[in-house]
Amino acid sequence: MLYPQRNKYRQYIDLSGIWDFRFDTKNEGLKENWQSGFDKSQPIAVPASWNDQFADNRDFLGPAWYQTYFDLPWGWTDQKVILRFGSVNYIADVWLNGDQLGQHEGGHIPFEFDITSKLKAYNNHLIMRVDGDLADDRVPPGGRPMFYPATNFDFFPYCGIHRLVLLYSVPNDGIEDLTIRTFIEGNMGKVQIILECVEKSSLTANIDLKGHGVDLSETMIMEDKTTEFTIEVPNAALWDTEHPNLYNLTVELLKNDVVFDSYRLKIGIRTIEVSGDQLLLNGKPIELIGFAKHIDFPITGRGYNPAVIIKDYSLMKWIGANSFRTSHYPYSEQMMDLADQLGFLVIDETPAVGLTFHKHHITRHLELCKQYTRELIARDKNHPSVIMWSLANEPHSSTKSKEFFRELYDLSKETDPTRLVTIINMQGVRDRAFEFLDIVCMNRYYAWYIGPGQIDEGCVGLSNEIDRFYQKYSKPIIIAEFGADTIPGWHSQPPEMFSEEYQVEFLKKYIEVINNKPYVIGQHIWNMCDFKTPQGIHRVGAYNYKGVFTRDRRPKMAAHMLRRLWTKSSE
Ligand code: GCU
Repeated sequence: MLYPQRNKYRQYIDLSGIWDFRFDTKNEGLKENWQSGFDKSQPIAVPASWNDQFADNRDFLGPAWYQTYFDLPWGWTDQKVILRFGSVNYIADVWLNGDQLGQHEGGHIPFEFDITSKLKAYNNHLIMRVDGDLADDRVPPGGRPMFYPATNFDFFPYCGIHRLVLLYSVPNDGIEDLTIRTFIEGNMGKVQIILECVEKSSLTANIDLKGHGVDLSETMIMEDKTTEFTIEVPNAALWDTEHPNLYNLTVELLKNDVVFDSYRLKIGIRTIEVSGDQLLLNGKPIELIGFAKHIDFPITGRGYNPAVIIKDYSLMKWIGANSFRTSHYPYSEQMMDLADQLGFLVIDETPAVGLTFHKHHITRHLELCKQYTRELIARDKNHPSVIMWSLANEPHSSTKSKEFFRELYDLSKETDPTRLVTIINMQGVRDRAFEFLDIVCMNRYYAWYIGPGQIDEGCVGLSNEIDRFYQKYSKPIIIAEFGADTIPGWHSQPPEMFSEEYQVEFLKKYIEVINNKPYVIGQHIWNMCDFKTPQGIHRVGAYNYKGVFTRDRRPKMAAHMLRRLWTKSSE
């Protein structure tokens, strides 16, 4: 799925802004035909969750309705016009000028509708109904009564239009998709380009790759709808975390020698693979240092917030991180582009968290997880920063989980044979899927949930279990989560749980264990920042305080310790 672009042949406008909004607390909107338009609305910011924008209904998870109007930009005639939503959580029904365009289930992944035949020149009326409610047959599922709202996961179930709404135009029979795969042979970089066109017809393609002293061009005949080219790049400037070298790729499509479509992509030449107990980036061992994160901020909730994205990357650079996981759902396209540009290694996770394999829901859950895996790979397959797909966070154990993840693993490898695949194991759960997954990822909370207050004993337990996992699977291991709730400004000596001293001690000692295990190739602390959760007796103020930074991005003591440790700086 190519992100909209502006050039001589393609245009887009951003429909984000202030829309009309209405809660449908009695779920009467459909019956009352709000899909043809509604009044008694209030203004709402798009993109952003609706939960924190108003004084009331914070915990109301839908249905709620959005409405806006737009004119067709000048000059967009005789093109295909598409309406694209970057993310809507959880189910979106969309109408344009009274006609239903369709429905999409699942937040955090883009979806779009071809609206060419439904457009008017002026005053196009766009309506969306969003249902963010929790239910056991959804992914992620609802469920646990000890939480309110009753999620089966530990973050607030924000709802709404969470990312940009773009209206874009493309040539009718132009470039449909591009897939980039890169290889390295000696100092030669190989860029494989799989070009997919809308129609099968006798077209030619101009491929141009510029950057780092090269300007390579090839012209190819399109034998079929999909054609593959490979460009060789001598003395390639490889992409890695220290030198995130990117090249500018331009693909032009010609009909009778006249260019009628083009698309530009920034690409990084790199390889990622497992060899023995090591993770190799461009053939050299690499270690993932950083965090599992959330997209979470006051008022905007889970909404796209570019200033916070910039802040988070600057803090990750400041602290010496080179990697993060998109826990527990895909992050914005802009966040992924910046990971390429700034040199971060990303474990890209689907929205599958809290899976229980309940017999009543397992078939539906597998369908949704397959949909999410396809949609995530279609969106992020060309990012050099994405090195691994995480098919789920902390699936509960069951005899069904191994076959469940085997199907997803096979789908992932068929769709993208170039990246590694994992799931994130929950403490106390036997994940049989690690027999075929590429990397073992473990969340561990010794000295927190297990053996609270006992850091030294906890680290012995951690060390022994890491060894057991390695002996069993002989694969590289990532400690994908470890952390301690820490109330900012709370101090104690000796270190006690919830104090900043405890978090420092906890993280320092975990990292000592990790650094002594040659087959542990990654440490991701939970979490980078404090974040909003449902209410529950073990979440003070409905927050998870395991952040190394506060929710508004102020460092706790542990942030300074980690910076000294990870950057080897004295400050
Ligand atoms: C789990 C889970 C997180 C959760 C964390 C915690 O490992 O993956 O989503 O927030 O534990 O309990 O803090």
